Amino acid sequence: MTRLLSLAALACAALALAAPPPRTVGAPGKPAQDQCTLCHRELEEARLRQPALLAAEDVHHRQGITCAGCHGGDPAATEPEVAMDPSKGFVGKIPPQKVPEVCAACHSDTSFMLRYDPNIPTDQLAQYRTSKHGLGLAKGDQRVATCASCHGAHGILPASDARSPVYPSRIVETCARCHADRSLMAQYGIPGNEIEDYQQSVHYQALTVKNDLSAPTCNDCHGAHGATPPGVSSVSNVCGTCHLTQREAFDLSPHKDAFATMEQPACEACHSNHKVVPPQDQWIGVEEGQVCGTCHSAGDPGAEAAEKIRHALLETVQRSEAVRQRVERAEQRGMLMDEALVKLEEAHQALVLARNDVHTVDPARVQARTEEAQMVLAKAEADAAAAEEELAFRHRGLKVSLLVILLAVVALGLKIRELEKQS
Ligand code: HEC
Ligand code: HEC
Ligand code: HEC
Ligand code: HEC
Ligand code: HEC
Ligand code: HEC
Ligand code: HEC
Ligand code: HEC
Ligand code: HEC
Repeated sequence: MTRLLSLAALACAALALAAPPPRTVGAPGKPAQDQCTLCHRELEEARLRQPALLAAEDVHHRQGITCAGCHGGDPAATEPEVAMDPSKGFVGKIPPQKVPEVCAACHSDTSFMLRYDPNIPTDQLAQYRTSKHGLGLAKGDQRVATCASCHGAHGILPASDARSPVYPSRIVETCARCHADRSLMAQYGIPGNEIEDYQQSVHYQALTVKNDLSAPTCNDCHGAHGATPPGVSSVSNVCGTCHLTQREAFDLSPHKDAFATMEQPACEACHSNHKVVPPQDQWIGVEEGQVCGTCHSAGDPGAEAAEKIRHALLETVQRSEAVRQRVERAEQRGMLMDEALVKLEEAHQALVLARNDVHTVDPARVQARTEEAQMVLAKAEADAAAAEEELAFRHRGLKVSLLVILLAVVALGLKIRELEKQS
């Protein structure tokens, strides 16, 4: 333990040596009062004025961290030559190469960050260095993303602020600045269609239309700081962190080992990665437009399994729709059908489980679920039949009583006429 600690201390010391340390800061919780901001606010040139105007919103400025926190220099000096003196560590426009270490001078310093907010992780630089972006930057490529490409440099907001460029509903446009640029991406052999595809997915729909923040966006699957494509072995883990039951079913299938040998990512084979669309029963098969046909062909055990599975599902769906129509018709005609509706819901739940079990590609498992559904459907069907019988009986009863009334009226008429004749 002590060895670990001293190792950590050594690592921190090394980092402190490597990083430029001039962070002239005020007290946490107190907005910065500095000459840099005061002077820059009045400058003509937009590129010089803008950073000062954004300071009021900036998460750093609000916590007493002045311009000098990133740029160095002396924030108390009113003379520009003194304030922006390189011998006081001043750096002007920070070049992309330098950005990560400037930010990390504080953000990788755990004891410094603890004074502000203990919940903010301090692993961003370490993660960034493992990412394709970080690896590119280390090789001198300035077109990759640095900290400032995703967070901005001035007016930086907490990641949880809905206006922040890294907020879930805004991250797509942030990545799109580079990743939708096909000619830029072509230089790296990246298709550049990821944004377009993702925007057609159920995930993007859920995020933007249903405002469901649990739906994944770019950084949920790729990581934010360690942005890399999830490796072949980890794709099912990525999808499976949210779709746990499908993953469990997939792990029971012969595909688990077979895909691993083929180096075929688990879920992508049938769902794709970015353009994940709503799945359907009709997908199961080897005909054109069906997902099993990529690897199986008519007559092989996979194709046969697909046939059985699709048949079991479609047959159950058809019956369930027919029964629902009968039940709803009876209800509209005034019968109390609550119990049958509960059974229909039970059948629906069994179908949900059956669709989950499609991932085992084991017809017996799927059929066990659909048979369960068929059993409750049979009961709902019997309820519907009984209700229809009852309605028919009432209908007949109505006819009989109408006839009786009619006869009585006729008899009464005859009687009246007879009495009139007599008088
Ligand atoms: C009294 C006014 C004044 C003060 C105080 C001042 N600046 Fe400046 N700053 C300027 C002017 C004018 C320029 C543009 C001319 C130049 O580059 O020297 C400038 C330029 C800059 C640039 C851009 C340099 C480049 O290479 O493009 C940065 C960054 C900067 N200042 C940061 C700071 C910081 C940080 C402080 C406080 C530690 C500060 N300034 C204090 C007036 C000021
Ligand atoms: C959180 C770190 C950080 C803080 C705090 C910060 N800057 Fe910067 N600044 C940067 C980075 C990174 C760049 C270069 C990247 C860019 O221009 O987007 C930059 C660039 C600049 C530039 C050059 C802009 C250009 O387009 O040429 C000026 C001027 C500047 N900063 C002034 C300021 C002033 C004034 C303040 C205080 C109000 C300030 N900065 C606070 C990180 C910071
Ligand atoms: C002088 C030290 C320092 C430097 C340099 C610095 N930061 Fe910060 N940063 C902080 C502190 C302290 C906080 C926490 C503020 C708080 O408590 O709200 C913070 C907060 C943040 C947050 C908000 C975290 C959250 O709550 O979601 C982001 C994003 C951020 N910084 C990005 C950057 C980037 C990008 C750079 C480099 C361009 C940078 N910082 C440079 C000290 C620094
Ligand atoms: C490719 C875009 C991207 C780059 C590059 C990037 N960030 Fe972030 N950052 C994000 C996203 C997205 C979040 C939101 C939360 C998450 O997913 O971790 C975030 C969150 C943060 C936070 C809030 C705490 C946390 O970790 O969740 C801080 C602080 C931060 N980033 C600092 C940095 C620093 C410092 C760098 C450079 C070393 C950097 N970021 C580079 C996208 C990026
Ligand atoms: C400033 C431009 C820029 C921004 C913004 C940016 N990227 Fe990148 N990204 C690149 C470049 C350039 C590469 C290619 C690097 C290489 O291959 O050396 C890349 C590579 C990647 C890769 C690796 C792809 C592969 O096949 O190797 C992933 C994953 C990635 N970015 C995800 C993201 C995500 C997610 C975001 C938003 C949170 C984002 N990027 C924002 C420029 C950017
Ligand atoms: C639901 C998870 C998921 C989401 C959301 C997601 N990706 Fe991906 N992405 C993947 C997987 C899986 C791969 C492929 C990995 C493999 O085949 O090894 C991939 C591959 C990539 C690649 C590498 C080139 C390629 O097309 O194969 C880039 C670049 C990329 N994604 C960027 C993005 C961007 C930008 C976003 C946001 C618009 C995004 N991704 C959203 C899962 C996701
Ligand atoms: C961060 C959590 C998360 C991750 C990671 C994730 N998903 Fe999703 N997924 C969701 C949410 C939330 C929905 C939306 C459900 C809805 O429409 O309300 C969804 C919907 C779906 C649907 C449609 C379900 C339906 O019933 O219509 C499919 C298929 C799907 N995801 C597959 C995948 C695949 C494949 C991956 C990996 C490449 C993946 N998901 C990664 C959360 C996630
Ligand atoms: C062999 C092809 C295949 C693979 C591999 C596959 N799926 Fe599916 N998935 C399907 C089919 C087919 C459906 C549609 C079932 C239906 O509606 O009848 C589906 C449906 C879904 C649904 C919708 C809800 C449901 O259970 O019906 C989700 C979510 C889903 N899959 C996630 C995943 C995840 C996560 C993985 C990886 C662990 C994965 N799938 C792997 C073929 C596949
Ligand atoms: C990415 C390729 C791929 C896709 C797509 C795919 N499979 Fe497979 N499947 C395989 C491989 C590889 C094996 C193992 C080798 C073999 O036995 O053919 C396998 C094995 C099977 C088996 C076991 C066969 C046996 O011999 O016992 C069944 C059943 C099966 N798949 C059904 C399906 C169904 C149903 C679908 C569509 C929903 C599907 N597969 C989609 C590649 C795939």
